[in-house]
Amino acid sequence: MLYGFDRDHERNNEKSNRPCKNSFSLAQNHIRRVAIHFPSNSAPPPPSKAMAGSIDMMLRNLNLETVESLPEDFDPTTVINDPLPPIADNAPHINGVKSINGKEKPREIILGRNVHTTCLEVTEPDADDEVTGEREAYMASVLARYRKSLLERTKHHLGYPYNLDFDYGALSQLQHFSINNLGDPFIESNYGVHSRQFEVGVLDWFARLWELEKNEYWGYITNCGTEGNLHGILVGREVFPDGILYASCESHYSIFKAARMYRMDCEKVNTLLSGEIDCEDFKAKLSLHKDKPAIINVNIGTTVKGAVDDLDLVIKTLEETGFTHDRFYIHCDGALFGLMMPFVKLAPKVSFKKPIGSVSVSGHKFVGCPMPCGVQITRLEHINALSRNVEYLASRDATIMGSRNGHAPLFLWYTLNRKGYRGFQKEVQKCLRNAHYLKGRLTSAGIGAMLNELSSTVVFERPQDEEFTRKWQLACQGSIAHVVVMPNITIDKLDDFVDELIEKRVVWYGNGKLQSPCVASDIGEGNCLCVLHK
Ligand SMILES: Cc1ncc(COP(=O)(O)O)c(C=O)c1O
Repeated sequence: MLYGFDRDHERNNEKSNRPCKNSFSLAQNHIRRVAIHFPSNSAPPPPSKAMAGSIDMMLRNLNLETVESLPEDFDPTTVINDPLPPIADNAPHINGVKSINGKEKPREIILGRNVHTTCLEVTEPDADDEVTGEREAYMASVLARYRKSLLERTKHHLGYPYNLDFDYGALSQLQHFSINNLGDPFIESNYGVHSRQFEVGVLDWFARLWELEKNEYWGYITNCGTEGNLHGILVGREVFPDGILYASCESHYSIFKAARMYRMDCEKVNTLLSGEIDCEDFKAKLSLHKDKPAIINVNIGTTVKGAVDDLDLVIKTLEETGFTHDRFYIHCDGALFGLMMPFVKLAPKVSFKKPIGSVSVSGHKFVGCPMPCGVQITRLEHINALSRNVEYLASRDATIMGSRNGHAPLFLWYTLNRKGYRGFQKEVQKCLRNAHYLKGRLTSAGIGAMLNELSSTVVFERPQDEEFTRKWQLACQGSIAHVVVMPNITIDKLDDFVDELIEKRVVWYGNGKLQSPCVASDIGEGNCLCVLHK
């Protein structure tokens, strides 16, 4: 299976109002250039193995047996060894503040390694067939080792909202095709190798989920949640060219990127401690610009805290401030929770029966596609403002990108068909249950944690050790880190993580001699378990 991975992951054995911070510097790079060696003393593989292009052959080359036959002087560690990076700086950090010579400085953002210095160089193939055979064997070994490292990294991933539990083996037969849905999903272009029939099937599914009739919606499968946001905000801007963009300061950075790209005036709205938009502040900011239409980004799950903005309260606030429905446009950024919320009992509903203009979701997050993708749905009436007919395509241009990944719709279609509403509902319930389990384990170990209702994002103190953070691939911001509990994250994995965190904390905090950080300003006094707040 080219698209699946060997599922050696554990089975789930159920045991049962703040300003945004913004300063950064480059991390210390852990530099090691990797050269590609072409061993001259190894036998070339048989001709069939040297032939590129077929999936069977690629799979055979991925077989680890091919790797074992490499010459002795081939040092695999120069290729794939993926050392965890060193701590970017050694000053002790407490409460987001680092102490240098007794003086406190705000903690800087730590950026990752410079991959350009560890890249796998591309070199020209040799004209000599024999050497080319060695090259094929070498490349196969690199890929095999890369695959191994992916398995390992997949096992220890906790921080980003990606569902890594899937099996798309059935789709490997389609890997030979250059499937491209360039242009409008509903208007077939002259390029025949497309998957529009799957794309529109998927779009229909999402339009039904968000309660918009087939003849009233337009949408497309995007490259990611960011593209959905860029499109949603663009549609809003086309509907209201002089509109002001409002977004909570905990919105994803793509929203502010859209404002910069489209040169829009943008008002950042404060948030509550939970991460939700503060509608009092929203009202105050709206009141200052009553003469201009409003374009609002509503978060259906913020990036860091998983907070869900109250869509109904946002609409009420607009109405109370004198904005009639023809003077505002709401884009709902549902990158992660857009597909979880409909399956959570009592959760507020995202629906086009409400005065919203567009909704977007990522396909590689909760859905679990192996490549970045997303879905964008808007009202058909809005799209005409944006689109242009293009003779060269024999289609219409209404998307952000030109060429569009035609494989992504197949993956989405396959998963939606396999799981259906009931399958997603089960997975959502499992994630919420496991997230509560994680929060419980952290707090009972004396580690303050926050879990928003309706969310599977567990927020807690940032680990003191960047190596630990990298091992578990945690996403951090300021003094906090989070784990996003996805369907592939089992109780066993959470136990391993918490056990290791507890062990490490003993070292970081000198067995109780040093104080663990106070995270009350991020997650609230009620959730913080520092010496002051427990
Ligand atoms: C709330 C929110 N919106 C948008 C995005 C962007 O999604 P993508 O990474 O698919 O571009 C993210 C990503 O984490 C997100 O959390």
